[in-house]
Amino acid sequence: MPQRERRLSGLYSLATAALRRLEPELAHELTLRGLEMGFGPTAPPPPASLASTAFGLQFPSPIGLAAGFDKDARVPDAMLRTGFGFVEVGTVTPKPQSGNQRPRLFRLPEDRAVINRMGFNGAGLFAARSRLGSRSRKGIVAANVGPNKDAADPIADFVAGIVALAPLADFLVLNVSSPNTPGLRGLQQRSRIDELLQRAVAARDAASPTTPLVLKVAPDLDEYDLTPIVESAISRGIAGLIVGNTSIGLREELRSPNRHQPGGLSGAPLLGLSTRLLAIAHRLAAGRLVLIGCGGVSSGADAYAKIRAGAHLVELYTAMVYAGPELVPQIHIDLAALLARDGFKSVADAVGTGT
Ligand SMILES: Cc1cc2nc3c(=O)[nH]c(=O)nc-3n(C[C@H](O)[C@H](O)[C@H](O)COP(=O)(O)O)c2cc1C
Repeated sequence: MPQRERRLSGLYSLATAALRRLEPELAHELTLRGLEMGFGPTAPPPPASLASTAFGLQFPSPIGLAAGFDKDARVPDAMLRTGFGFVEVGTVTPKPQSGNQRPRLFRLPEDRAVINRMGFNGAGLFAARSRLGSRSRKGIVAANVGPNKDAADPIADFVAGIVALAPLADFLVLNVSSPNTPGLRGLQQRSRIDELLQRAVAARDAASPTTPLVLKVAPDLDEYDLTPIVESAISRGIAGLIVGNTSIGLREELRSPNRHQPGGLSGAPLLGLSTRLLAIAHRLAAGRLVLIGCGGVSSGADAYAKIRAGAHLVELYTAMVYAGPELVPQIHIDLAALLARDGFKSVADAVGTGT
């Protein structure tokens, strides 16, 4: 590594360590402000073997930033520069809302995990649309949409999100899996999912027919729950599935004092649960959906495990809180080495080979 880059990388490590001493939400806001001011690092391009195609789009790397870090689309381009192959902004709700009472974001350092019950705090569709509308659209940015807490018809809120953001996003994510909006996860039920997807696809067809729609599900589902979701997604023309969001379970495996905070658990303890459900999705979808593996990824080996379980693309968030911005370039190096070790020429060659 050249001397200037080594010095900068040392500075970012120091900054990450300093931020971790602050109250988590304050640290997050300061990070976003720093990125808005141009203080983010610029990663080297990923190894060529990581180039991937999905949804008809060319991804420089399959490793993306998961939703929740940049809820209001303030810094997608700065995050692309840190090395991510794509960035998902949101969840964006139609109206601005303040979310749950603070504190609502908790670090669990002993478990390399986080619990959050943010409750879709955000500036709303109008703000996200104007920010996304003013970018130059270099690099792949997805938008994740969801309903306001007080929505009388939550599906109508999804439709509003699709109409506003589909023309400005490379793909659109329907979030039916946050545990922090009462009733939201109920939309995953057999009796409700098909109506959501039917109305979502109709809205997308009217607003921006070429924008792929992706559904983000909870990692706490089992095969019985997932089967009708996969069937409905395929028959309605949904392009992909993100498996998955944060978990409401797994608390007995944790050691940190914050382990009993209500909310969604993310980070290392989620890897096994979410990867097992991903493998089930891979079997059920049988090549008919693009699968995005998300949950507990903190290394090249974890990303490789998701790909071998059936993921075409991989997302992470929590590991970055602990490892800082050097994480993604390191994952790139390690993932490329693992592919080469096993004789795979590309990510696509390795998808689903571990199941
Ligand atoms: C603080 C925080 C906020 C989040 N907010 C959202 C959100 O608004 N929408 C969403 O779909 N997922 C949200 N997530 C879930 C992540 O996108 C991801 O699915 C989950 O954290 C698992 O990945 P990880 O273990 O790599 O963090 C949030 C996660 C965290 C930690």
